[in-house]
Amino acid sequence: EKAGYRHFMAKEIAEQPVVLAEALRSGGLAPTLPDVDFTGVDRVVLVACGTASYAGHVAKYWFESLAGLAAEVDIASEFRYRDPVLSEKSFAIFVSQSGETADTLAALRYAKEKVAKVLAVVNVPTSSIAREADVVLPIRAGVEVGVASTKAFTAQLLTLALLALKAGVDRGRISPEALAQRLAELQALPGLMNHTLSLGPRIAEVAEELSRAQDVLFLGRGAMFPLALEGALKLKEISYIHAEGYASGELKHGPIALIAPEVPVIVLAPRDGLFDKTVSNMQEVMARHGKVLLISDAKGVHEAGKGTWATLTLPDCPGPFAPILYALPAQLLAYHTAVAKGTDVDQPRNLAKSVTVE
Ligand code: F6R
Repeated sequence: EKAGYRHFMAKEIAEQPVVLAEALRSGGLAPTLPDVDFTGVDRVVLVACGTASYAGHVAKYWFESLAGLAAEVDIASEFRYRDPVLSEKSFAIFVSQSGETADTLAALRYAKEKVAKVLAVVNVPTSSIAREADVVLPIRAGVEVGVASTKAFTAQLLTLALLALKAGVDRGRISPEALAQRLAELQALPGLMNHTLSLGPRIAEVAEELSRAQDVLFLGRGAMFPLALEGALKLKEISYIHAEGYASGELKHGPIALIAPEVPVIVLAPRDGLFDKTVSNMQEVMARHGKVLLISDAKGVHEAGKGTWATLTLPDCPGPFAPILYALPAQLLAYHTAVAKGTDVDQPRNLAKSVTVE
């Protein structure tokens, strides 16, 4: 069942190029946008737990930048115990791999009568969350066995990217030419992912050293900030190393006090419009003898790699969808660190695949 892989997690990480390629083809030869009409919608509210909530955080950037649509993200367990202000012009989007997460389901039931439509982005189309939603958007990742979510995360991101593009089209923010370009960027992802997966042995080397750390920080800016949160969650979940993700700009508001040679800092920084800002935060870390792993593209590593502990060079990924690609090194770092430590990768202690109690 593991198809020659040592762990389900390794298999599921490796499957991502095929999962994405197939999900993009699912409606025919060319990718199709979801059948959801955003006309008159004033806001989307994304609700989920854990890794699925980080997919929601990335999608917030896309709804805002691609569609000019206000977007909010909430953790399901917080959303349902507040008095969230919802309007009948809003869509609420519930993201869940299993479709059975108790808090997410309860949040959906709470929102159902208060918003225009409830959408479910799920991997299991027969799940409770899918059954109770007005619109079901299947992510088509296939069965995910590893407790740490990997391929479901990137497949959630793909579905949310297509949804944000549909919102942009419906709101007159995306021309046919721009849409064609964005879809081409999505279609390039499986190839870029294959290239990134080939960095596995190099990532395993870096992870060997990471496995000796007690604390690790992840930094990212813009849509890479949720990836920093996801990288930290993955690492703590399966390797039991304490890790935190921060927005790069928050560093000097507290976490910089933690910087020391024995605390590796992983910086997720593609060479985009925010690169220089993130690099200046990274240099603040290095000036305090912090040990930096820079994850960027060739240009970024060339410009800023000097003085770092290590670098990982990903292929160029122009456009807004780089977070989908940068999920892979985050997953592989956690995986190889856990393997180096000898922890139970597929069944980490205290965790269940589907959390059906609050
Ligand atoms: C982390 C992880 C969890 C889940 C969360 C939500 O690797 O798997 O954080 O993402 O429990 O689960 P679903 O998506 O099934 O609602």
